[in-house]
Amino acid sequence: MKIVAVFNYLLSFLIAYWNTESVAEDEFIYGQFPSYFRWGIGTSSYQVEGAWNLDGKGENIWDNFTHSTPSPIKDGSTGDFACDSYHKYEEDSKLVKSIGVDFYRFSISWSRILPLGTKEKVNQAGIDYYNNLINSLIHHEITPVISIHHWDLPMPLQNKGGWTNEEMIEHFGDFARILYANFGDRVKQWFTFNEAWVICVMGYGDGIFAPGVKEITETPYTCIHTILKAHAQAYRIYDLEFRDEQQGQVGITIDSGWLEPSDPNKLEDIEASERALQFKFGMFASPIVFGKYPDIVRKSVDERSKQEGRSTSRLPSFDKYWTDYIKGSYDFIGLNHYSSYLVTSASSDPGPGWYGDQNAVTFQDPSWPETGSTWLRPVPWGFRKVLNWIKNTFNNPPLIVTENGYSDLPDVGLNDYGRIEYYKGYINNLLKAVIIDGCNVRGYSAWSLMDNFEWASGYTERFGLHWVNFTDPSRERIPKESVKYLRKVFLSNGFPKPTLPWNSIQLNEQCAAVALDPDTSF
Ligand code: GAL
Repeated sequence: MKIVAVFNYLLSFLIAYWNTESVAEDEFIYGQFPSYFRWGIGTSSYQVEGAWNLDGKGENIWDNFTHSTPSPIKDGSTGDFACDSYHKYEEDSKLVKSIGVDFYRFSISWSRILPLGTKEKVNQAGIDYYNNLINSLIHHEITPVISIHHWDLPMPLQNKGGWTNEEMIEHFGDFARILYANFGDRVKQWFTFNEAWVICVMGYGDGIFAPGVKEITETPYTCIHTILKAHAQAYRIYDLEFRDEQQGQVGITIDSGWLEPSDPNKLEDIEASERALQFKFGMFASPIVFGKYPDIVRKSVDERSKQEGRSTSRLPSFDKYWTDYIKGSYDFIGLNHYSSYLVTSASSDPGPGWYGDQNAVTFQDPSWPETGSTWLRPVPWGFRKVLNWIKNTFNNPPLIVTENGYSDLPDVGLNDYGRIEYYKGYINNLLKAVIIDGCNVRGYSAWSLMDNFEWASGYTERFGLHWVNFTDPSRERIPKESVKYLRKVFLSNGFPKPTLPWNSIQLNEQCAAVALDPDTSF
């Protein structure tokens, strides 16, 4: 037995070496993920729940934004009714189960729990709703995984300045504490924020997302700064008050595409790629891992602020207290990844604020396939590259892919073969990142369980594995073809090759075990 094990072990190294040398960017490989790997599917409160003003829920910034005139939403729609998941959570749990996943990632509507945003008034109907959802998931043997905040800030808090006001740190901490106290006996994985970059740059900079603030020069940095502190607050509260008893884990979800140097042999483009990645992912990961903003970001914003005649940098600094408080405030990091971009350095004035500060121009190769979203073109190899960049830049942190997905081309209906192709390519590159490159990825959650309210695009972009009829009051959910495919991948834990003469599961686990510590499994 021992000889066979040693032989397998050596063989796994050989295979890993051989693969590293020879696996081409778009080459498909067979293999399975390590046994600790977990699969999931996700949604968020505003995008699916509806019931925007029922049972004591307060108004949030997306309610307010979508109700404004003229409508800032492409099809003039709102999330007032959305997929009606507030009433259909039982059915949703069954759908989650039918996909063959281990966990369901959903978010909590802050205004449903705290209608005024603050702890003084707790809405019991909101607590009941999430208790029902959690219990129903557990009944179906699905692990609940919670995003504490996925963009729907209570309106009374926005009226005080939202994420530009440091008071939010305390309010977010209070909100998180209420969630841990009510649900933490059953929920063991928490993400504080979903994509704070989107909140701060698209919501407080471009203003194309709620709360619709158009102040690109400075406000996104104020927002990012507050959110990082609020994240740490929620993390430390868990540490001090709940971790011993509940034994869960807390992280944050950060979004990033892969930013490929436009000319991979040109130093200027390679540097532009690094800058763009640091301004996107590093902006959040660097403070929580190293306790400071990335050096490139610091230098660039400080210099440009000076050139603009300012006495202080547009990018605030953390003092000693906050540096220590934020540094290390993660048990894992979530990555939302959809697509890739080519990057080159800007040849003319790059514009104000976050966009110009990084001195990089991004664009997509028109030969990459199209999807239903202008910003999303499938580039499967980019996924492997961004995972490796995170591994190399942040000491291979435990990572959960919290979102990855595809929007249908118009009129595709249930035959979503483009999505199948997308997931096949992306999950295969994830496999390469894990078993060949040793990236410390613990789980993967596809986006999304069903078509839903796609923010400023309304219902015009469909990301779901289930097709939803938005003109039918019963909001029927119908599985698309991709459900069958993904179910197979999830239940097989990857892409096993049954004809292999040896047991590929054992080989790959040994391979991955070289770099990973299974004790910290997700
Ligand atoms: C993410 C977001 C999701 C979903 C997805 C598809 O940025 O977190 O809520 O909308 O994009 O565009």
